[in-house]
Amino acid sequence: MCGIVGYVGYREACPILLKGLKRLEYRGYDSAGVAVINKDGNLNVYKCKGKVSSLEEFLDGKDYSGNIGIAHTRWATHGEPSDRNAHPHYSQSGQIALIHNGIIENFRVLKDALIQNGYQFKSSTDSEVLVNLIEYIRKENDCCLSEAVRLALKQAVGAYAIAVIEKGNPDQIIAARQSSPMVIGIGEGEYFLSSDAASIIDYTNDFAYLNDGEIAIINKNKPLEIKTLENETSNLDIRHLELSISQLEKGGYPHFMLKEIHEQPNTIIDCIRGRINPDTAEVKLSGVELNKDKFLQAGRIIFVACGTSWHASLIGEHLIENLCRIPVEVEYASEFRYRNPIIRSNDVVIAVSQSGETADTLAAVELARKAGAFVYGICNAVGSSIARATDSGTYIHVGPEIGVASTKAFTGQVTVMAMIALAIAKEKGTISTERRQAIAKSLLELPQTIKKVLETDKMVADLSKIFTYAHNFIYLGRGYNYPTALEGALKLKEISYIHAEGYPAAEMKHGPIALIDAEMPTVVIAVPDHTYEKTVSNMEEIKARGGKIIAVIAQGDSHARKSADYTIEIPTTDECLMPVIVSIPLQLMAYYIAVYKGRNVDQPRNLAKSVTVE
Ligand code: M6R
Repeated sequence: MCGIVGYVGYREACPILLKGLKRLEYRGYDSAGVAVINKDGNLNVYKCKGKVSSLEEFLDGKDYSGNIGIAHTRWATHGEPSDRNAHPHYSQSGQIALIHNGIIENFRVLKDALIQNGYQFKSSTDSEVLVNLIEYIRKENDCCLSEAVRLALKQAVGAYAIAVIEKGNPDQIIAARQSSPMVIGIGEGEYFLSSDAASIIDYTNDFAYLNDGEIAIINKNKPLEIKTLENETSNLDIRHLELSISQLEKGGYPHFMLKEIHEQPNTIIDCIRGRINPDTAEVKLSGVELNKDKFLQAGRIIFVACGTSWHASLIGEHLIENLCRIPVEVEYASEFRYRNPIIRSNDVVIAVSQSGETADTLAAVELARKAGAFVYGICNAVGSSIARATDSGTYIHVGPEIGVASTKAFTGQVTVMAMIALAIAKEKGTISTERRQAIAKSLLELPQTIKKVLETDKMVADLSKIFTYAHNFIYLGRGYNYPTALEGALKLKEISYIHAEGYPAAEMKHGPIALIDAEMPTVVIAVPDHTYEKTVSNMEEIKARGGKIIAVIAQGDSHARKSADYTIEIPTTDECLMPVIVSIPLQLMAYYIAVYKGRNVDQPRNLAKSVTVE
């Protein structure tokens, strides 16, 4: 979703801004722009529809010099993707420029009031209303820029991360946030601003995180000042982040998605590092240990999440109900937040989010906390809004995920959920020590098992060629692998734009079987578990109706092989960890089909990596 970058200091701002925007491209966007103040004090704004590379071409031959600037990639919410709707927006007098992520919900009311005061608008955006409101307040109150921003934001309803600069004020950026990410990188006599620390990691490892309702007054060569919308001074929340540049580059792969799929043996090592004792096979998670009582007394666990994180949560439900015997519910965060849910003080709400910035999940966290529940986070992005808004949590530690289609985050989430379930099961004594240790050992072996499953890459690529021209797919699985089927279908549709649906295999007979014909391939997950035979029978039913079956089966399983047209044979692990293994060939298949169709795999149309608006 929209991305923000800013710089004030002694270096040329524009190259830093453009590089930062490129690092944010993965978030998804449709236009880009920069605003810089040059040495003569001129505020120059350049913006256009299209990619950051189009912006670079547009800048060619223009004056984009200056040591202060703000830049933006826009993902349209109000007004079509176009040059005029692209950010930065500048005020009517041309004195103030602003970039904005989020949505100002009451922009119509504010706009009408400004029109009555003689303002005219060039764009259809809510953001242009905000910059003019800031200018209007600044003039009316004869106040400084930060005060005008504060007073304007007090009138604004909605979500935002903004950065503002002003002609005649070439050493200062004002930034603010409400439900949309914003970090400030701290250098020597210089500051960097971004919606994602990863985009400015080349320059600093020290980051100040803005909290909701805070405004940052960022002056070159002066200490950073943070205050609240109520004009009170806030404490700085500074964190030191260790991220390497190589983690943010493709490392020889054609796409981030393929790199991230192949990283999984290592990301799972990082995910379990220090958390399972290899000698005793005991799991140690500080988040669970420190909050043992909350989990032991939990009447219920409620997962809240969106998209792939929601699928991982469905697997978490199986893990926790099976191993810990605690009732679990899994909720779409977007539904949970608006349906007046019953939340009890002995509920544990687990928010699952790769980015830690998903607006609906963040809102669900806030709702659960207000209702008195203990809220636990499973996030990837360290220091993200959800990680900070939860009472405690476990990071998945799989490194930055850049491809819009989530892959390594999904396997990391399931791995963390398995560790959480084992840690709780130990405290509750709900499974035997032998069973617990057997699962923990399988977790320790997971990186090796993933390495083996990745050997199917070439075979899956060849198989994918055969199905590139299918218009519809069905994915079937049961038990732990019903959510894996949903996830496989989501991967395919989001990057190849092929319609795909996931079902529990037994549901076939209740409707979807009517769709089966030679044109409708079905991907069936038929790995050894307690419903295996039933799933093989479902395959026969599909075959009997002329359907083509691609079956994901255990290596050497000649029984299931007979019922399939094509097979992907994979190594096995403990039943409860099979989703981690099964999901990998499904990720590869979605990837190759999308590549053969010529799709933009890492930045599929209409999608954003981190959905920071509702
Ligand atoms: O960052 P989050 O895990 O909160 O994101 C949730 C979804 O937006 C995300 O999983 C989305 O469904 C992905 N594009 C799936 O590949």
